[in-house]
Amino acid sequence: MEAIILAGGFGTRLRPLTYTRAKSLLPILNKPMITYLINMLPDKVDKVILAVNYRKKQIEDYFKKNDFGMKIIVNDEPKPLGTGGAVKFAERYITDSFFVLNSDIICSLNLDEMIKFHMKNNAVSTISLWPVDNVSEFGVADVRDDGNIIGFVEKPKPEDAPSDFINAGAYFLEPEILDYIETGRLVSMEKEIFPKIIKDTGRFFGHKFEGYWMDIGRISSYKEAHNFLLEKQGINNYQGDNCEIKGSLRKSCIGNNVHIGKNSKLESTIVYDNAIIGENVVLSGCIIGENSKIGSFSSIKNSVLGDNEKLADNSNINERIVWTQPTPEGYPDKQIGNVIEQ
Ligand code: GTP
Repeated sequence: MEAIILAGGFGTRLRPLTYTRAKSLLPILNKPMITYLINMLPDKVDKVILAVNYRKKQIEDYFKKNDFGMKIIVNDEPKPLGTGGAVKFAERYITDSFFVLNSDIICSLNLDEMIKFHMKNNAVSTISLWPVDNVSEFGVADVRDDGNIIGFVEKPKPEDAPSDFINAGAYFLEPEILDYIETGRLVSMEKEIFPKIIKDTGRFFGHKFEGYWMDIGRISSYKEAHNFLLEKQGINNYQGDNCEIKGSLRKSCIGNNVHIGKNSKLESTIVYDNAIIGENVVLSGCIIGENSKIGSFSSIKNSVLGDNEKLADNSNINERIVWTQPTPEGYPDKQIGNVIEQ
């Protein structure tokens, strides 16, 4: 069975972290986000098609070095084709019913159960559904008791919402849906293709599941995912290899080869590989990029430092994105495809 993993987005809401790396390779507890998804795939999935574009080479290199015991095809789009266009572009690898998975979700969804649900309903498309409190920020599914979805309502007022279930970014599809997607142009699966399938077939279903679900689309959800997983694993901090930690850590995740000077205090902070934090530094709610350096006696709160950034001694920063290098060529200055507000 084939699974297409959509991993070609720029991840603009996660800049500056995505200026230097593919969103799907951003570490969560020191492991690339995409590995959580690969480990969730049912045994029957023996072929994964990675739909890539931006930072394709990084993704390719990662999968060359790491064997997941399945065939991995890196399918490079000539230009960003959006969530639907990327699926169409993988058409030549599809032989039967297949999964499409956003690469930026971390969840407890059981994909075998999803296949069973799909078969029982003789569905053309089954999407995973997750309940939320803040319906007015999402496309909300109009879903009947038996799971049949009859439409979506974009960002409804709570009193107008047809349900509290939203698209959780995992789909199980019949190959006939490929006929709905035009070749070679930017197509949104969610906005353009799903409504057509609902209208034409009526066999569009939503599979609800329990446990947890996180869409790692924004800096806030990226940080929340770390907190959640630290708590779930019952650990206070996570630490990579070869670190020299002379300060103290609380609810923080530290990469490999990190140096933290004496009397420094880190709380709810993520530090990437090879970072150097001086002495008497306070970091709270921060993300510190790879090879970054923070001078002694600095105080940084709720801020993100991109890779290779340097802050002088006595820096005092609050709620800031620190990026002093040129923006990578071709990187868009706003979201393309599905626009989801920050
Ligand atoms: P933002 O720019 O912050 O909206 O992030 P994004 O570009 O990742 O977009 P979004 O979160 O809507 O994407 C959902 C999933 O689809 C992610 O796993 C993306 O990697 C993937 N994706 C989005 N656009 C494309 C595309 O044009 N091609 C491919 N192959 N994947 C895409």
